[in-house]
Amino acid sequence: MQQAKRILITGGAGFLGSFLCERLLQEKHEVICVDNFFTGRKSNVSHLLDNRSFEIVRHDITFPLYVEVDEIYNLACPASPVHYQYDPVQTTKTSVHGAINMLGLAKRVGAKILQASTSEVYGDPEIHPQQEDYWGRVNPIGPRSCYDEGKRCAETLFFDYWRQHRLRIKVARIFNTYGPRMRPDDGRVISNFIVQALQNEPITVYGNGQQTRSFCYVDDLIDGLVRLMGTKEEVTGPINLGNPAEFTMLELAELVIELTGSRSKIIYLPLPADDPRQRQPDIGLAMRDLGWKPKVQLRDGLARTIAYFEDLLSLDGSQAVAAE
Ligand SMILES: NC(=O)c1ccc[n+]([C@@H]2O[C@H](COP(=O)([O-])OP(=O)(O)OC[C@H]3O[C@@H](n4cnc5c(N)ncnc54)[C@H](O)[C@@H]3O)[C@@H](O)[C@H]2O)c1
Repeated sequence: MQQAKRILITGGAGFLGSFLCERLLQEKHEVICVDNFFTGRKSNVSHLLDNRSFEIVRHDITFPLYVEVDEIYNLACPASPVHYQYDPVQTTKTSVHGAINMLGLAKRVGAKILQASTSEVYGDPEIHPQQEDYWGRVNPIGPRSCYDEGKRCAETLFFDYWRQHRLRIKVARIFNTYGPRMRPDDGRVISNFIVQALQNEPITVYGNGQQTRSFCYVDDLIDGLVRLMGTKEEVTGPINLGNPAEFTMLELAELVIELTGSRSKIIYLPLPADDPRQRQPDIGLAMRDLGWKPKVQLRDGLARTIAYFEDLLSLDGSQAVAAE
């Protein structure tokens, strides 16, 4: 049996972080969840509060933190455009100052540290699918730049700490992930479509709906993160984690309408600025180094996510969420 570790998860009360807390507690580790509750919610982790191996700390990672831990998963950062564009200066600070603080902590206590980076580091890419050695095409001054460039700078810091201080680092480039506990108000395409469909409201497709995305179910993604953390020291990443199966936005809208049995009609709106036309991971490296590939089909993952939103909306959850 593997030894129990003490593990810090920043952003642990968020969508991905809360599933990661659960997974690591199941593996009998001690988990310290740090969150400033900007987009995270206590209700995402309230079911874990009785577990003696779980602690929750309200803290903003743009300020230093001192805790003795063996591993750090750095997930803190709003991930959806509506939330990261709400206070773009804070978004960059979270990515950059947050990374500096967490890397400093890892150095001080000798912890291994994993960064939740993003496919956004590829920007609006010229090559498909994207491999890790592609440097990306990112607008440095646009409305998405606070997130994209913040995450790119965080990667730079991780690799400089690795080169300069021999820190044990792991960098995951996460592609669109979905599942229960996404916020109904986060403006991401899956939650948007599901909420609109469940309310029989028009489904808003941007552009002509032919732009494609790939979607990874949360359980698969968490498994990839945990496998990456468990790799040998030489494996640093960056490593793509996502589901290569590509769907157009129109196909997604039609599937959501089918699975919800909705009466919604599809309407078309102009494309937002810097919206990438296509994004698809090449996961060859993850398959080779982690023995990982996603297992959950979009149809199955969507059904589970729809069930979550049905419950939430039947409790008038969107208002409860907004009030938290
Ligand atoms: N979900 C995806 O599809 C996706 C894709 C690529 C990358 N990521 C990355 O994964 C991580 C988690 O994403 P998510 O989807 O769970 O988003 P989320 O918004 O649900 O979670 C982010 C969490 O970080 C917390 N947070 C934000 N700023 C903070 C700060 N300064 N100090 C402490 N806590 C702070 C929020 O309150 C929230 O709980 C993010 O770093 C995101 O960039 C996610």
